[in-house]
Amino acid sequence: MDLEKYVASIPGFPKEGIIFRDVTPMLQDAEAFKESVKQLAGFVKSEDVDVVVGPESRGFIFGCPVALELNAGFVPVRKPGKLPREVVSCKYDLEYGSNEIQMHKDSIKKGQKVFIVDDLLATGGTVEAAIKLVEEMGGEVVGLAFVIELVDLKAKEKLESQGYKVYSILQY
Ligand code: PRP
Ligand code: ADE
Ligand code: MG
Repeated sequence: MDLEKYVASIPGFPKEGIIFRDVTPMLQDAEAFKESVKQLAGFVKSEDVDVVVGPESRGFIFGCPVALELNAGFVPVRKPGKLPREVVSCKYDLEYGSNEIQMHKDSIKKGQKVFIVDDLLATGGTVEAAIKLVEEMGGEVVGLAFVIELVDLKAKEKLESQGYKVYSILQY
């Protein structure tokens, strides 16, 4: 199945110079959605993953079904002020703007194997921040998987040079 057909490209959104890669057509189509989840989960072995971590908001959409497919738990990474209990936080820069993410401080247990899933890898800022929080809690990051990788931004090389396994279904 050609999943590329299910990505809409919007030049100039949310600002000039950015081509927004929109995965909502992939979600709307039952077969394409199922196939994307199957491919993301297929990058790792089920026994190698205890927990899938997904950054708000698009990482929730793919991360939850991937967690179910892998028989793993799901832990949300959220934007500030959303999690009700004690959190760990990290600030980072985006392709367009800056952001901060948080996780519940007790969400990852020491030694748990963590698979991070998001819709898209751009600068890598979001996933680097998520990695930092997971490792701060003692988790082991076993892989990073994305529906889309923006290759020109070279985040994959950077993450691989730090020893992380990086997977993506589509490259732009
Ligand atoms: C987008 C995208 C990734 C991130 C990738 O999320 O869903 O999470 O940017 O960019 P990076 O690799 O440069 O960090 P965004 O923060 O726009 O929010 P959303 O998922 O809530 O739409
Ligand atoms: N997040 C960061 N860069 C993006 C892009 N070009 N398209 C969609 N989401 C993004
Ligand atoms: Mg996101």
